[in-house]
Amino acid sequence: MRNISLLIVAGFLVTMTAAAQTSKAKVDPQGHEWWQHAVFYELYPRSFADSNGDGIGDLNGIASKIPYLKDLGVDAIWIAPCFPSPQVDFGYDVSDYENIDPMYGTLDDFDKLQKTANDSSIKIILDFVVNHTSDKHKWFTDSASSKDSKYRDWYIWRDGKGANQPPNNWLSTFGHSAWKFDPKTNQWYYHYFYTEQPDLNWRNPAVKDAMFDVTRWWYKRGVAGFRLDAVDTLYEDPNLTDNPVQPGKNKYGDPNMEPVNNNKFPEVHTTLQELRKVADDYNAVLIGETWTKNIDELKQYYGGGQRELQMPMDFMFTKVNPLSASEFRRQVAAVDKAGGWPVFVISNHDIVRAASRWGDGKHNAQINKMMAAFYLTLRGTPIMYYGEELGMENHDPTRVEDVKDPIGVTGWPQEKGRDGERTPMQWNGEKNAGFTTGNSPWLPVTPAYKTQNVESESKDPDSVLSFYKQVLALRHKNEQLLEGSYVSITDDPNVIAYLRPYQDQAVLVVLNMSASQLKIKLDLAKQGFGAEAKTLVTSMKKVPAQASASEMTLEPYGAYIGELTKVVK
Ligand code: NOJ
Ligand code: CA
Repeated sequence: MRNISLLIVAGFLVTMTAAAQTSKAKVDPQGHEWWQHAVFYELYPRSFADSNGDGIGDLNGIASKIPYLKDLGVDAIWIAPCFPSPQVDFGYDVSDYENIDPMYGTLDDFDKLQKTANDSSIKIILDFVVNHTSDKHKWFTDSASSKDSKYRDWYIWRDGKGANQPPNNWLSTFGHSAWKFDPKTNQWYYHYFYTEQPDLNWRNPAVKDAMFDVTRWWYKRGVAGFRLDAVDTLYEDPNLTDNPVQPGKNKYGDPNMEPVNNNKFPEVHTTLQELRKVADDYNAVLIGETWTKNIDELKQYYGGGQRELQMPMDFMFTKVNPLSASEFRRQVAAVDKAGGWPVFVISNHDIVRAASRWGDGKHNAQINKMMAAFYLTLRGTPIMYYGEELGMENHDPTRVEDVKDPIGVTGWPQEKGRDGERTPMQWNGEKNAGFTTGNSPWLPVTPAYKTQNVESESKDPDSVLSFYKQVLALRHKNEQLLEGSYVSITDDPNVIAYLRPYQDQAVLVVLNMSASQLKIKLDLAKQGFGAEAKTLVTSMKKVPAQASASEMTLEPYGAYIGELTKVVK
């Protein structure tokens, strides 16, 4: 009997240890969780890979490219919204949160994609559009049907100030009034984005419950987390105070205005903290689309001591134009000390591609490699954007009649819309870059696809793609890059140089952010390291396997990554 109880106790202990190990397996010796070491990759489902020839990418297309993503060094894919949607905002107008749009496939296809990805240790992150639904969502159609609808208060309905006068002066960020009059009930509804994207009323607890349940539904299906869309605008002033008007007009011809009364309300943080509680039950990660103006705003999204977003995106890098070593250095130092885990982004589906933003037309490949060497070796998690690894450039429409993104029509020609950064992924040099077997991709491929494509660049050891692969491979296996701190070691206005020290070694990263060849002196002894570096990855032609790191010659936009060893005293 005693032996049996001992066996039971021993069995219990084994189970406990296994459970502890499983949860421990989620963190490394430094206490990092999986997402802190992961490389995230955003893909725009319409544009990644089309499996059925209709010119629009789909889930089976994504599944067929999992081996490519694995080989590239991706650990998690964030799929921009693939839920049922009228596609006014190409999926950011969701009409059903718990299904897949038929143009992308079925729930069964989603499960298969997730299995294929997970079999290659790639996690799936979905895009959760929290601020608004489509006007075709059943919650909204019911809400609009009558003032007595059970869903009326799920959205923001108000009386106008008078005939044809909206409740206040707030503008939609996509142009013109943020209010739309609905004659059926004689009231106006609020939409921060397109008129077809009515804002949810997050002050209504029923909305919160329903939306939190959506996340549970997907967690139970196996998703590893969400990228949260447009969180800055979840709440607005219930008194509808007008926004202060400034001189001049915006690109849509509306008066300039500071959106202080419908943006970044403190309640956003309380709600995100509640959403995090739900995420924690499933060990999920929350990434925020957080357009913070400065580091203090970014800090708030980490929760200031409360558990809020693990990964608020820092977009400040994308605003540095032209390239400026001093400005990047200032930003990295600030985010490194912000109290959360840094998240770096250089491109996405709403902003001009990095290659077009920073390219000078002469050194584009070098600049793309240099920026990759930069943001993929910092202490923090990078979120790549599909095609960035090829040096893909924007391909903007030249005629308004070709524009697909509605803001490009409203704002033409000042605002050409976001089609340019959403063109099809370039898989090979064949027709339509191998994106579709059909004749008409939903957007034209960039003219550069003949040389900038996965097939050609994979064969060229000097391509941007090959460089990304080298840096990503290093990032996954190098302990200093995984665990090391960040120490800037120069104030040179043209050069970024830093160490990622851990234990008795450091990775040294040196980047020339100028179009001239430069000589740089680095005092490594001060940090306790020897001056001899073992070259790990470089974009420069004339670099020996062992380089002198105390004095380096840097080619224009050259990038150097090497290994230093501590001097034993
Ligand atoms: C941010 C998304 O990234 C963008 O594409 C979309 O238009 C707006 N949010 C509205 O959902
Ligand atoms: Ca398709």
